[in-house]
Amino acid sequence: MTFERPLTEHPILIQEVGMRDGLQSAGSFIETDDKVSLIDQLSSLGLKKIEVTSFVSPKAVPLLADAEVVLSKIQRNPDVVYTALIPNARGLERALQTELDEVNVVMSVSEAHNLANLRMRCSESLEQFRIITRDSGSLRVNGTLATAFGCPFTGPVDSSEVLDWGRRYLDLGIDSLTIADTIGAATPGQVYSVATAFIQAFPGIELTLHLHNTRGLGIANALAGIAAGITRFDASLGGIGGCPYAPGATGNVCTEDLVHALIFDGYSCKVLLPELIEVVNALDVLLPGSLTGLVRTSGLRDRVHSMSEGLQSMLESV
Ligand code: COA
Ligand code: ZN
Repeated sequence: MTFERPLTEHPILIQEVGMRDGLQSAGSFIETDDKVSLIDQLSSLGLKKIEVTSFVSPKAVPLLADAEVVLSKIQRNPDVVYTALIPNARGLERALQTELDEVNVVMSVSEAHNLANLRMRCSESLEQFRIITRDSGSLRVNGTLATAFGCPFTGPVDSSEVLDWGRRYLDLGIDSLTIADTIGAATPGQVYSVATAFIQAFPGIELTLHLHNTRGLGIANALAGIAAGITRFDASLGGIGGCPYAPGATGNVCTEDLVHALIFDGYSCKVLLPELIEVVNALDVLLPGSLTGLVRTSGLRDRVHSMSEGLQSMLESV
Protein backbone atom coordinates (compact mmCIF):
# COMPACT_ATOMS: atom_id res chain seq x y z
CA MET A 1 0.00 0.00 0.00
CA THR A 2 1.17 3.55 -0.58
CA PHE A 3 0.84 6.34 1.93
CA GLU A 4 0.31 9.95 1.10
CA ARG A 5 3.20 11.75 2.77
CA PRO A 6 1.63 13.62 5.71
CA LEU A 7 2.78 17.05 6.79
CA THR A 8 6.03 16.32 8.56
CA GLU A 9 5.98 19.59 10.51
CA HIS A 10 2.93 18.44 12.48
CA PRO A 11 4.26 17.39 15.92
CA ILE A 12 3.98 13.70 16.74
CA LEU A 13 3.41 13.27 20.47
CA ILE A 14 4.76 10.28 22.36
CA GLN A 15 3.12 9.01 25.55
CA GLU A 16 5.21 6.67 27.66
CA VAL A 17 3.30 3.65 29.01
CA GLY A 18 6.19 1.40 30.01
CA MET A 19 5.83 2.18 33.70
CA ARG A 20 2.30 0.71 33.58
CA ASP A 21 1.93 -1.60 30.58
CA GLY A 22 5.54 -2.73 30.86
CA LEU A 23 6.03 -3.15 34.58
CA GLN A 24 2.63 -4.82 35.15
CA SER A 25 3.98 -7.91 33.40
CA ALA A 26 7.71 -7.63 34.12
CA GLY A 27 9.42 -10.77 35.33
CA SER A 28 9.89 -9.35 38.81
CA PHE A 29 8.81 -6.50 41.08
CA ILE A 30 10.72 -3.31 40.40
CA GLU A 31 11.40 -1.48 43.67
CA THR A 32 9.25 1.62 44.21
CA ASP A 33 12.24 3.97 44.35
CA ASP A 34 13.54 2.57 41.07
CA LYS A 35 10.15 3.20 39.45
CA VAL A 36 10.17 6.76 40.82
CA SER A 37 13.68 7.36 39.51
CA LEU A 38 12.76 6.10 36.02
CA ILE A 39 9.62 8.27 35.92
CA ASP A 40 11.56 11.33 37.08
CA GLN A 41 14.16 10.79 34.37
CA LEU A 42 11.44 10.32 31.74
CA SER A 43 9.72 13.53 32.83
CA SER A 44 12.31 15.82 31.26
CA LEU A 45 12.62 14.14 27.86
CA GLY A 46 9.82 15.79 25.87
CA LEU A 47 7.23 13.06 26.36
CA LYS A 48 3.68 14.41 26.28
CA LYS A 49 2.18 12.01 28.79
CA ILE A 50 3.43 9.37 31.19
CA GLU A 51 1.20 6.55 32.39
CA VAL A 52 2.82 6.03 35.75
CA THR A 53 0.91 3.07 37.18
CA SER A 54 -2.54 1.53 37.53
CA PHE A 55 -5.07 1.46 40.33
CA VAL A 56 -6.27 -2.10 39.88
CA SER A 57 -6.65 -4.98 42.30
CA PRO A 58 -3.24 -5.77 43.82
CA LYS A 59 -4.24 -9.41 43.60
CA ALA A 60 -4.73 -9.08 39.84
CA VAL A 61 -1.52 -7.10 39.25
CA PRO A 62 0.83 -7.41 42.25
CA LEU A 63 3.73 -5.74 40.42
CA LEU A 64 1.91 -2.36 40.57
CA ALA A 65 0.62 -2.67 44.12
CA ASP A 66 2.69 0.39 45.11
CA ALA A 67 0.70 2.85 42.94
CA GLU A 68 -0.04 5.38 45.71
CA VAL A 69 3.56 5.45 46.93
CA VAL A 70 4.91 5.93 43.41
CA LEU A 71 2.58 8.88 42.89
CA SER A 72 3.47 10.42 46.23
CA LYS A 73 7.18 10.41 45.38
CA ILE A 74 7.49 11.48 41.73
CA GLN A 75 8.49 15.02 40.75
CA ARG A 76 5.97 16.62 38.43
CA ASN A 77 6.90 18.48 35.26
CA PRO A 78 4.01 20.84 34.36
CA ASP A 79 4.54 20.07 30.65
CA VAL A 80 3.79 16.38 31.18
CA VAL A 81 0.34 14.87 31.70
CA TYR A 82 0.53 12.21 34.41
CA THR A 83 -2.06 9.48 34.00
CA ALA A 84 -2.92 6.10 35.53
CA LEU A 85 -5.09 3.24 34.36
CA ILE A 86 -8.25 2.42 36.29
CA PRO A 87 -10.81 -0.31 35.64
CA ASN A 88 -13.57 0.70 38.06
CA ALA A 89 -14.94 3.24 40.55
CA ARG A 90 -12.69 1.84 43.28
CA GLY A 91 -9.74 2.78 41.09
CA LEU A 92 -11.07 6.34 40.83
CA GLU A 93 -11.43 6.59 44.63
CA ARG A 94 -7.77 5.65 44.96
CA ALA A 95 -6.67 7.95 42.12
CA LEU A 96 -8.48 10.93 43.67
CA GLN A 97 -6.27 10.62 46.75
CA THR A 98 -3.21 11.30 44.59
CA GLU A 99 -1.98 14.12 42.36
CA LEU A 100 -2.86 12.88 38.91
CA ASP A 101 -3.86 14.88 35.83
CA GLU A 102 -5.86 12.11 34.22
CA VAL A 103 -7.28 8.64 34.70
CA ASN A 104 -7.33 6.18 31.83
CA VAL A 105 -10.40 3.94 31.99
CA VAL A 106 -10.06 0.68 30.12
CA MET A 107 -12.47 -1.84 28.69
CA SER A 108 -11.96 -4.46 26.01
CA VAL A 109 -14.46 -4.16 23.18
CA SER A 110 -14.28 -7.95 23.08
CA GLU A 111 -16.58 -9.30 25.80
CA ALA A 112 -14.36 -12.40 26.16
CA HIS A 113 -11.19 -10.46 26.89
CA ASN A 114 -13.00 -8.01 29.15
CA LEU A 115 -14.18 -10.96 31.26
CA ALA A 116 -10.68 -12.47 31.35
CA ASN A 117 -8.94 -9.20 32.16
CA LEU A 118 -11.41 -7.30 34.31
CA ARG A 119 -13.99 -9.93 35.30
CA MET A 120 -16.72 -7.70 33.96
CA ARG A 121 -19.08 -7.74 31.03
CA CYS A 122 -18.72 -4.70 28.73
CA SER A 123 -22.04 -3.35 30.03
CA GLU A 124 -20.67 -3.57 33.59
CA SER A 125 -17.50 -1.73 32.59
CA LEU A 126 -19.61 0.98 30.98
CA GLU A 127 -21.63 1.31 34.20
CA GLN A 128 -18.36 1.82 36.09
CA PHE A 129 -17.36 4.50 33.56
CA ARG A 130 -20.69 6.25 34.15
CA ILE A 131 -19.83 6.54 37.85
CA ILE A 132 -16.24 7.54 37.09
CA THR A 133 -17.17 10.39 34.71
CA ARG A 134 -19.80 11.57 37.22
CA ASP A 135 -17.35 11.59 40.14
CA SER A 136 -14.03 12.49 38.51
CA GLY A 137 -14.27 16.24 39.21
CA SER A 138 -11.47 18.14 37.50
CA LEU A 139 -9.57 14.97 36.63
CA ARG A 140 -9.46 14.32 32.87
CA VAL A 141 -10.79 10.95 31.79
CA ASN A 142 -9.25 9.15 28.82
CA GLY A 143 -11.02 6.03 27.58
CA THR A 144 -9.14 3.06 26.15
CA LEU A 145 -10.84 0.70 23.71
CA ALA A 146 -8.76 -2.44 24.25
CA THR A 147 -8.60 -5.38 21.80
CA ALA A 148 -9.77 -2.96 19.09
CA PHE A 149 -7.97 -4.90 16.35
CA GLY A 150 -8.37 -8.45 17.60
CA CYS A 151 -9.19 -10.56 20.65
CA PRO A 152 -6.95 -13.38 21.95
CA PHE A 153 -10.03 -15.58 22.53
CA THR A 154 -12.51 -14.74 19.78
CA GLY A 155 -10.30 -13.37 17.00
CA PRO A 156 -11.34 -10.58 14.64
CA VAL A 157 -13.16 -7.51 15.95
CA ASP A 158 -15.65 -5.58 13.83
CA SER A 159 -14.36 -2.02 13.52
CA SER A 160 -17.89 -0.59 13.39
CA GLU A 161 -18.40 -2.01 16.89
CA VAL A 162 -15.21 -0.31 18.05
CA LEU A 163 -16.59 2.98 16.71
CA ASP A 164 -19.91 2.36 18.52
CA TRP A 165 -18.05 1.85 21.81
CA GLY A 166 -16.08 5.03 21.16
CA ARG A 167 -19.35 6.91 20.75
CA ARG A 168 -20.69 5.45 24.01
CA TYR A 169 -17.52 6.55 25.82
CA LEU A 170 -17.89 10.10 24.52
CA ASP A 171 -21.61 10.16 25.36
CA LEU A 172 -20.65 9.46 28.98
CA GLY A 173 -18.37 12.50 28.99
CA ILE A 174 -15.05 10.74 28.50
CA ASP A 175 -12.64 13.41 27.19
CA SER A 176 -10.37 11.51 24.82
CA LEU A 177 -10.02 8.06 23.25
CA THR A 178 -7.25 5.49 22.87
CA ILE A 179 -7.61 2.80 20.23
CA ALA A 180 -5.57 -0.13 21.55
CA ASP A 181 -4.11 -3.10 19.73
CA THR A 182 -3.71 -5.10 22.95
CA ILE A 183 -2.40 -8.26 21.29
CA GLY A 184 -0.48 -6.82 18.34
CA ALA A 185 -2.95 -8.14 15.76
CA ALA A 186 -3.32 -4.98 13.67
CA THR A 187 -1.92 -4.52 10.18
CA PRO A 188 -1.05 -1.15 8.61
CA GLY A 189 -4.03 -1.13 6.24
CA GLN A 190 -6.39 -1.92 9.09
CA VAL A 191 -4.86 0.78 11.28
CA TYR A 192 -5.21 3.27 8.45
CA SER A 193 -8.90 2.52 7.91
CA VAL A 194 -9.85 2.38 11.61
CA ALA A 195 -7.93 5.59 12.36
CA THR A 196 -9.55 7.32 9.38
CA ALA A 197 -13.00 6.20 10.53
CA PHE A 198 -12.38 7.53 14.07
CA ILE A 199 -11.07 10.88 12.84
CA GLN A 200 -14.10 11.29 10.59
CA ALA A 201 -16.61 10.15 13.23
CA PHE A 202 -15.17 12.20 16.11
CA PRO A 203 -13.63 15.39 14.70
CA GLY A 204 -11.71 17.40 17.27
CA ILE A 205 -11.53 14.55 19.79
CA GLU A 206 -8.02 13.72 21.04
CA LEU A 207 -7.16 10.27 19.69
CA THR A 208 -4.25 8.02 20.64
CA LEU A 209 -3.05 4.81 19.05
CA HIS A 210 -1.75 2.21 21.50
CA LEU A 211 0.21 -0.39 19.57
CA HIS A 212 1.95 -3.63 20.48
CA ASN A 213 4.80 -5.09 18.45
CA THR A 214 3.84 -8.74 18.95
CA ARG A 215 4.12 -9.53 15.25
CA GLY A 216 6.74 -6.94 14.29
CA LEU A 217 4.27 -4.44 12.85
CA GLY A 218 4.36 -1.81 15.60
CA ILE A 219 6.24 0.94 13.79
CA ALA A 220 4.65 0.18 10.43
CA ASN A 221 1.27 0.50 12.14
CA ALA A 222 2.29 3.80 13.76
CA LEU A 223 3.30 5.21 10.36
CA ALA A 224 -0.03 4.07 8.95
CA GLY A 225 -1.75 5.89 11.82
CA ILE A 226 0.21 9.06 11.05
CA ALA A 227 -0.76 8.78 7.39
CA ALA A 228 -4.39 8.70 8.52
CA GLY A 229 -3.88 11.79 10.72
CA ILE A 230 -3.17 10.39 14.20
CA THR A 231 -0.55 12.41 16.08
CA ARG A 232 -0.45 10.70 19.51
CA PHE A 233 1.12 7.35 20.21
CA ASP A 234 1.59 5.27 23.32
CA ALA A 235 4.94 3.52 23.43
CA SER A 236 7.04 1.71 25.94
CA LEU A 237 10.73 2.14 26.65
CA GLY A 238 12.77 -0.89 25.78
CA GLY A 239 9.67 -2.38 24.14
CA ILE A 240 8.48 -3.88 27.44
CA GLY A 241 4.79 -4.50 27.99
CA GLY A 242 1.87 -6.82 27.61
CA CYS A 243 -1.43 -7.57 29.23
CA PRO A 244 -1.03 -10.36 31.81
CA TYR A 245 -4.55 -11.57 30.95
CA ALA A 246 -4.07 -11.81 27.17
CA PRO A 247 -2.37 -15.08 26.18
CA GLY A 248 0.54 -14.46 23.81
CA ALA A 249 0.57 -10.69 24.30
CA THR A 250 4.03 -9.11 24.18
CA GLY A 251 5.53 -5.66 24.39
CA ASN A 252 4.36 -2.28 23.19
CA VAL A 253 5.86 -0.54 20.24
CA CYS A 254 9.27 0.49 21.58
CA THR A 255 9.58 4.18 22.47
CA GLU A 256 13.19 4.70 21.42
CA ASP A 257 12.75 2.74 18.18
CA LEU A 258 9.61 4.71 17.31
CA VAL A 259 11.22 8.06 18.16
CA HIS A 260 14.27 7.08 16.10
CA ALA A 261 12.09 6.16 13.11
CA LEU A 262 10.15 9.42 13.34
CA ILE A 263 13.18 11.68 13.73
CA PHE A 264 15.16 10.08 10.92
CA ASP A 265 12.12 10.00 8.64
CA GLY A 266 11.75 13.76 9.06
CA TYR A 267 8.79 14.05 11.43
CA SER A 268 8.62 16.63 14.15
CA CYS A 269 9.12 14.63 17.36
CA LYS A 270 10.47 16.49 20.35
CA VAL A 271 11.62 13.52 22.43
CA LEU A 272 15.32 13.66 23.34
CA LEU A 273 16.58 10.39 21.88
CA PRO A 274 20.11 10.01 23.34
CA GLU A 275 18.82 10.89 26.82
CA LEU A 276 15.93 8.45 26.39
CA ILE A 277 18.39 5.70 25.53
CA GLU A 278 20.24 6.46 28.78
CA VAL A 279 17.00 5.77 30.68
CA VAL A 280 16.53 2.53 28.75
CA ASN A 281 20.06 1.53 29.78
CA ALA A 282 19.03 2.09 33.41
CA LEU A 283 15.93 -0.06 32.85
CA ASP A 284 18.09 -2.79 31.31
CA VAL A 285 19.98 -3.06 34.60
CA LEU A 286 16.69 -3.57 36.45
CA LEU A 287 15.19 -6.01 33.92
CA PRO A 288 18.18 -7.79 32.37
CA GLY A 289 17.38 -9.71 29.20
CA SER A 290 13.85 -8.32 28.92
CA LEU A 291 14.25 -5.44 26.52
CA THR A 292 13.42 -5.94 22.86
CA GLY A 293 14.16 -2.49 21.43
CA LEU A 294 16.76 -2.45 18.65
CA VAL A 295 18.16 1.06 18.37
CA ARG A 296 19.75 1.04 21.82
CA THR A 297 22.10 -1.75 20.79
CA SER A 298 22.38 -1.15 17.03
CA GLY A 299 23.06 2.59 17.40
CA LEU A 300 21.34 5.43 15.59
CA ARG A 301 20.99 5.43 11.81
CA ASP A 302 23.85 7.93 11.42
CA ARG A 303 26.29 5.75 13.36
CA VAL A 304 29.39 4.91 11.34
CA HIS A 305 31.94 2.24 12.15
CA SER A 306 35.69 2.68 11.78
CA MET A 307 37.42 0.76 8.97
CA SER A 308 40.62 -1.21 9.31
CA GLU A 309 43.76 0.75 8.42
CA GLY A 310 44.25 -1.37 5.30
CA LEU A 311 40.78 -0.70 3.99
CA GLN A 312 41.07 2.96 4.95
CA SER A 313 44.23 3.41 2.89
CA MET A 314 42.64 1.57 -0.07
CA LEU A 315 39.68 3.93 0.17
CA GLU A 316 41.93 6.98 0.29
CA SER A 317 43.97 5.80 -2.72
CA VAL A 318 40.91 5.49 -4.96
N1 COA B 1 -8.01 -1.26 43.36
C1 COA B 1 -7.71 -2.03 44.43
N2 COA B 1 -8.47 -3.06 44.84
C2 COA B 1 -9.60 -3.30 44.14
C3 COA B 1 -9.97 -2.52 43.03
C4 COA B 1 -9.11 -1.47 42.64
N3 COA B 1 -9.39 -0.69 41.59
N4 COA B 1 -11.12 -2.99 42.56
C5 COA B 1 -11.47 -4.03 43.35
N5 COA B 1 -10.55 -4.20 44.30
C6 COA B 1 -10.53 -5.20 45.35
C7 COA B 1 -11.81 -5.27 46.12
O1 COA B 1 -11.80 -4.32 47.16
C8 COA B 1 -11.78 -6.68 46.64
O2 COA B 1 -10.87 -6.77 47.71
P1 COA B 1 -11.00 -7.88 48.86
O3 COA B 1 -10.87 -9.22 48.18
O4 COA B 1 -9.85 -7.58 49.76
O5 COA B 1 -12.35 -7.67 49.45
C9 COA B 1 -11.15 -7.44 45.49
O6 COA B 1 -10.38 -6.49 44.74
C10 COA B 1 -12.18 -8.08 44.58
O7 COA B 1 -13.10 -7.09 44.17
P2 COA B 1 -14.14 -7.33 43.00
O8 COA B 1 -14.89 -6.07 42.77
O9 COA B 1 -14.93 -8.60 43.28
O10 COA B 1 -13.19 -7.53 41.80
P3 COA B 1 -12.88 -8.80 40.90
O11 COA B 1 -12.20 -9.86 41.65
O12 COA B 1 -14.10 -9.16 40.14
O13 COA B 1 -11.80 -8.14 39.90
C11 COA B 1 -10.93 -6.09 38.96
C12 COA B 1 -12.14 -7.01 39.13
C13 COA B 1 -11.26 -5.13 37.83
C14 COA B 1 -10.72 -5.35 40.25
C15 COA B 1 -9.69 -6.96 38.63
O14 COA B 1 -10.00 -7.89 37.64
C16 COA B 1 -8.54 -6.13 38.18
O15 COA B 1 -8.00 -5.32 38.92
N6 COA B 1 -8.09 -6.31 36.92
C17 COA B 1 -7.02 -5.50 36.35
C18 COA B 1 -6.25 -6.29 35.35
C19 COA B 1 -5.22 -5.43 34.66
O16 COA B 1 -4.69 -4.49 35.22
N7 COA B 1 -4.92 -5.77 33.40
C20 COA B 1 -3.97 -5.07 32.63
C21 COA B 1 -4.33 -3.68 32.25
S1 COA B 1 -5.59 -3.57 31.06
ZN1 ZN C 1 -1.08 -2.40 26.01
